[in-house]
Amino acid sequence: MKYKRVLLKLSGESLMGEKAFGIDNNRLKSYAEQIKEVRELGVEVAIVIGGGNIFRGVQAEEGGMDRTHGDYMGMLATMINAMALQASLESAGVESRLQSAIEMKAIAEPFIRRKAMRHLEKGRVVIFGAGTGNPYFTTDSAASLRAIEVNADAILKGTRVDGIYSADPEKDPNATKYDMISFDDVYSKGLNIMDMTAFTLCKENDLPIIVFDMDTPGNLKQVLAGEQVGTIVRN
Ligand code: GTP
Repeated sequence: MKYKRVLLKLSGESLMGEKAFGIDNNRLKSYAEQIKEVRELGVEVAIVIGGGNIFRGVQAEEGGMDRTHGDYMGMLATMINAMALQASLESAGVESRLQSAIEMKAIAEPFIRRKAMRHLEKGRVVIFGAGTGNPYFTTDSAASLRAIEVNADAILKGTRVDGIYSADPEKDPNATKYDMISFDDVYSKGLNIMDMTAFTLCKENDLPIIVFDMDTPGNLKQVLAGEQVGTIVRN
């Protein structure tokens, strides 16, 4: 395997699968199976999952709710997804640990970096819930931060699209997919991969980002083997 330790960022929306809201059990199962497959190949996997299938902070603001309040609700939404993913990993026979950025001792360990590192070394999948624990940060920022903290070799952003395009492929028929692109080119072309906070954190810490379609079974394994799947962003 090309990568030894990775941070996998899963989107909350993807977890909806064919549904309009919430969690699609088939999608959850498919993710767990893919993660199991790469674990068996010896890759150490940490995971950050979004909460957009349940609640988004910006949505609260639109409804007249304080942004900070909404962001905390969003963080709780990520915990629901994280718990669902943990249960799904468990039933697939994958050992995992859930750590939360906001203390909720009855359901998760608190985030402790050194403990997370030990879990990874022991082959446990570590799921980081509740984002960074702070409002105004996205789960992409949480993913970048945790990836750097645990010395991941790359951050794998699993999405519904199969990589980064020169333009929106749904709107522009001439849009082409990049196999590889530099951080600087992403800035200069104004491409939208992650929010700028998350993206800059990766660039400044020399952490490659791989954007790929996680909804196609087998893709995760191919990415980790270093095969050309999706788009890689690097310095
Ligand atoms: P080792 O120390 O490597 O053996 O790791 P471990 O995770 O097996 O040890 P520990 O005894 O810390 O944890 C046993 C179980 O309790 C694991 O499933 C942990 O996720 C869980 N656990 C540990 N700390 C907490 C906590 O603060 N809250 C909750 N809810 N669970 C915890």
